[in-house]
Amino acid sequence: MSKTKEIMIVTGGQPLEGEARVSGGKNTAVAVIPATLLSDEPSVIENVPDIDDVHVLIDILRDLGAKVEYEPGVRLLVDPRGADGWQVSFRRAQKLRASYYLLGALLGRCNRAEVASPGGCKIGTRPIDQHLKGFMALGAEAEERGGIITAEAKELRGSSVFFDIVTVGGTINVMLAAARAHGRTYIYNAAKEPHIVDLANFLNSMGARIKGAGTDVIRIDGQERLHGTTYAVIPDQIETGTLMICAAATHGDVTIRGCIPTHMDALSAKLLEMGAHVQDQDDAIRVQHKSALRYRAVNIKTQVYPGFPTDLQQPISALLTVANGTSVIQETIFEQRFRHLDEMTRMGAHVRVMDRTAIIDGIPQLFGAPVTTTDLRAGAALMVAGLMAQGVTQIYEPEYIDRGYEHIEEKLRALGAQIRREVIE
Ligand code: EPZ
Repeated sequence: MSKTKEIMIVTGGQPLEGEARVSGGKNTAVAVIPATLLSDEPSVIENVPDIDDVHVLIDILRDLGAKVEYEPGVRLLVDPRGADGWQVSFRRAQKLRASYYLLGALLGRCNRAEVASPGGCKIGTRPIDQHLKGFMALGAEAEERGGIITAEAKELRGSSVFFDIVTVGGTINVMLAAARAHGRTYIYNAAKEPHIVDLANFLNSMGARIKGAGTDVIRIDGQERLHGTTYAVIPDQIETGTLMICAAATHGDVTIRGCIPTHMDALSAKLLEMGAHVQDQDDAIRVQHKSALRYRAVNIKTQVYPGFPTDLQQPISALLTVANGTSVIQETIFEQRFRHLDEMTRMGAHVRVMDRTAIIDGIPQLFGAPVTTTDLRAGAALMVAGLMAQGVTQIYEPEYIDRGYEHIEEKLRALGAQIRREVIE
């Protein structure tokens, strides 16, 4: 969908106060939607966030012949019975990283897939060698050549897949294919993120037999057929964290409702270490920092779940630019995930980046400035910086933010933020 050019305008200094409700998870929805192709019966998914990545996946499923009806905030119905396609075009695939989940889903559905290489945030080289290794272990021919990934198998057979590194996408793709393979598959060194567990629960609600999701070893007993289902995806861990950071950054008092507090433990621990107040409730988290005291500087090392999530490294780095002292961030997951810090120097931040390490010398205050978003979570980081800064920040390319946050400005305005869009051409 071609959008008019807009910028996001943020006027800083307002403490955020009140309640916000978190949306369904982007990184779980983009795995569950392709998974509906593993059945020939309709499925209904609830709590699907109204974000651009979801709309692109809906277009992809329709291109393949599935019938899809989406009522944002209500439900997403996928009827895969007419889906006899097995190719995904460059035009669609390059709009998001999760387009490559159609590889595992189509392999599981019809033993073949041809998907253009995926797009997604430019935060590193993001190879897919482990995905291909997993498909080949299941008996498929798989390769990436000329910007197209092809995978084909006479028959998918269960096997053991040992990932050389922990990969969320690789784990998801192999789960999708193995769910319909003949026999048992073990995935060793599996990713354990909440959305891996959510996908396993979704597949099991379709009649799959998956055990161990959330641990290092996932066992999948492939099924001849899977039936339709109705399922609600879990809340978005990264949106929850972003809202928590916005609350802390503006010295506010915000309760984020509809979240799963245990998914946030690594971030909650860091915010407490910095001096914020974080209180877990049943399905909510309250973040307060009413005092004018500056935060303590802290060190962060991103890790696979349950460690500190790489997707929250960028938003929290904004908070560290005004902490009292020097903070060190080690980004162990992606090799190029500090581009937002260049933009924050325009707001006065003192940062030095060396390879996968960022050293942030805290200053008392950021100042509003024109800045440009380079990727989804960089956009979130610049939003946090704008909410904190003295004066007005213009955020260019805010469409990156729309890929992964549902109505984020409305949510922030309801908490007292001065944030809006302006058409510029
Ligand atoms: C998923 O990306 C998420 N995207 C990312 O969120 C998230 O940052 C990441 O997992 C880690 O949690 C979606 O779920 C759509 P990986 P993914 O495979 O699957 C390397 C966001 O902001 N690797 O776990 O691409 C890879 O290059 C996005 O919502 C290989 O070398 O992450 C990276 O360095 C950004 N070979 C590391 O592993 C492979 O075959 C982890 O990547 C696969 C991955």
